[in-house]
Order: sequence, then C-alpha cells, then structure tokens
Amino acid sequence: MPNPTHIQGVSIASLADQFGTPLYIYDGEKIAAQVKTLQEAFSAVPLKIKYATKALSNVNILKLIRNAGAGVDAVSIEEVKLGMMAGYTAPEIMYTPSGVAFAEIQEAVELGIMINLDSLPLMEQFGQTYGGKIPACIRINPHIMAGGNLKISTGHKESKFGISIELLPKILETVEKYQLQIVGLHIHTGSDILDAEVFLRGGNVLFEAAFRFPDLKFLDFGGGFKVAYKPNDVSTDVMEVGKKVGEAFQAFCKQYGRQLELWLEPGKFLVSEAGYLLVRTNVVKESPSVTFVGVDSGLNHLIRPMMYDAYHSLYNLSNPDGEKSKYNVVGYICETDTIASHRELNEVKAGDLLVIKNAGAYGYSMASNYNSRLRPAEVLIWNGKAQLIRRREEFEDLIRNQEIIEF
Ligand code: LLP
Repeated sequence: MPNPTHIQGVSIASLADQFGTPLYIYDGEKIAAQVKTLQEAFSAVPLKIKYATKALSNVNILKLIRNAGAGVDAVSIEEVKLGMMAGYTAPEIMYTPSGVAFAEIQEAVELGIMINLDSLPLMEQFGQTYGGKIPACIRINPHIMAGGNLKISTGHKESKFGISIELLPKILETVEKYQLQIVGLHIHTGSDILDAEVFLRGGNVLFEAAFRFPDLKFLDFGGGFKVAYKPNDVSTDVMEVGKKVGEAFQAFCKQYGRQLELWLEPGKFLVSEAGYLLVRTNVVKESPSVTFVGVDSGLNHLIRPMMYDAYHSLYNLSNPDGEKSKYNVVGYICETDTIASHRELNEVKAGDLLVIKNAGAYGYSMASNYNSRLRPAEVLIWNGKAQLIRRREEFEDLIRNQEIIEF
C-alpha cells in the first residue's frame, strides 16, 4: 500500500491546518468500494452484509454504508439506535448481544429488531416472554479456534460467545418447548482470519445444525476477514472465500430444500484501510539506545497497539524524501503507550505530521478520555470533499456529566 499525501485529491496536510490534530480521517470511497468487493465476491449467493457497527460507529459512516447496500449488526441497544438514526429500517438491523439485561432485549424487540440469542437462559426468557411470536436467530459457538490472537478469538470452546454446539440437543429442546421461530443460525469465530478454510469449517458446523431447524431464512457466517496491517501482510482473499463458501452454501441449500440467504458481518474489512489517524510530533527525544518520537495522541485514541500488540504502519507526511532512521513512536499518555517500536521513518522533527494507517476499524470506537484527554475530531472525505463528521471534544465535554457537590 502506498503512503498517500492526498485522499481523493484532498491534501492530508491541509486537513491538519483546517481541523487540527489529532484527527481521524476516513476515505468514504474506499469504504463503498470494500462493500462492492464483498458483494462481487459473494455474487453467486443471495448475500446480505450486516456491517459490524462496533468497528466505526459514526452515524455518517453508517449512512454511507447503507447507501452502499449493506445493513448493520449491532452489539448494544445504543448501536441499534445509531443504526436507526442513520436511516436503517428494523429489518436491516441484527442485534447480537452478549449477556445483556433482558430489558435491553425487550427494547430492541419493541423496535422490531431481530435478536441473535446467545445463551440458553436468554432462549428460555425469550421463549417465556414471546413464545413463537417473534422470529429470532441463534448464535452458535462452533468450537473453532481462529483469529489473529486469543483476545479476538470468539468461536473457541472457552470463549464466552454463543451457545456451544455441544449443547445442540438443549437448544432444540428449548426451541420445541416454546415453539420458537428460529429463522437464522449465526457464528463468528474471530477477527483477523486469513484462511478461507476457517469459514468453510464454520460453515460445516452451521450446515450440520441447520438441518434441525426447518424454518431458516439465513445462515450468518459472522465477520473476521483479515486486512493487511504490516507491509508484507496479505488480506483475506475474499474472492476465494466467496467462491468456496458460496459453492458449499449452494450445495447445502439444495440438500436443505430451500434457497437461504448468506449473511456476513464484516467490520475491519469495510472500514480499516479507509481510516487514518493524523498526529503531530510534539518532541523528538534521544536516549542512549532509542530515539523517541512523542506525538499528540496515544492509547486514548488508538489502543490497538497496546491492547493486542497490533502493528500499524505509519509514515512521516512532512518529510517524504528524508533519510531513514529508526524510532519508537510513543503517545503522550502516562503509560507506556508505544504506537510503533524500532520503526524506520523518514527523519522526524518536532512539528512533523505522522499518518497512522489502518485506523478506521476499532480506532475512534475504542477511544477514551483516559488522562482526561479529549477525543479527536473525525473527518469524512466523500466526492473529493472533506467534511467534519464529529467535532473535537472540548473541556466542557469532559465534565458534562460530573455533578459538582458542596463540601
Ligand atoms: N460480528 C461479531 C458478532 C463480532 O463480535 C465482530 C467483532 C464482528 C462481527 C466483526 O469482526 P471484524 O470483521 O471486524 O473482524 N477490537 C478488535 C477486534 C474485536 C472484534 C470484536 N468482534 C481489534 O481491534 O482487533
């Protein structure tokens, strides 16, 4: 991937002047193109994409993704509401909760949203409350270890997510007991999954279970396509996944006796590469063994490097032709928030702008106010025009909910 100085003809440096730093920048056309790529990869099946809102949940991004032809997967009632604000109708939204209070389930049902049931107790409560009146989906834990690291592996035996496939008899008993209308089965094995094989293995678990559910309308394969974070990394070959999974799916549908829809819930694949975190260098500091580049951001804005040891490529926008040196790029938070370690960059001076790539997914959405720092602004570039889609926080935002009591 080249290191862009412009996005859709808009100079990145000019965005720093116009909106300040740190700044999240999103290339809307890239997001729309990713939706299209996935649609093409799975064109042999009736596909529904449910974008994993949690990856990047700005309402404008949700609107853009809706216009591109995808629905949403929400993991909280708040994400359901953001989806509705973006113009999604209830049938376009899937709610995949994990151990939430039943009141939240009821609220979603009242809004007409499909629930992805992720535990036997939830199935029981759902059955007691609604019987077979409300169609629902079941999240199965397929016991497949997959994903870039254990923290983002969600379909293995010890993972909290879904209902163990070993409990299928119990699932069927509960469906029978309440005459539940199960229209979908779901798996999501993890994030950063490279191999088509993993999706096929997940598919086989779904196919086998599906024969026990006569009223299905869809099978949901979850998300998890890997994107290239490192220079020589490869992304999941979605064309290959689409072809292999598509064929297996169509063969299954034949046996099942009905054409079902295939659902996917990508997050990273749609928004990761479209996002950049633009930061400014505050200080370049020499130590005997390392040169530190201290920037005006940190784990409060991009926690992925510290939480998952994730690698993010970055480059010095201000010095495109400079000599290369090795640096540790660090944040301004009072923790060891190393963004990049022993990384070769064109010579960095205080004031230089650095661009952190692949910051679209799980960047802003995992940002916090740690160290009482303010969250950055977000800018969307669409049709060659940069527009502010979230203003930078101000001190007032930080204290808005604090009640100052008398002593
Ligand atoms: N569906 C469900 C039910 C999920 O839990 C997730 C992600 C996705 C879809 C989308 O996965 P994706 O296509 O984005 O890999 N914060 C971590 C990733 C955690 C993902 C949690 N679930 C990271 O930054 O790597």
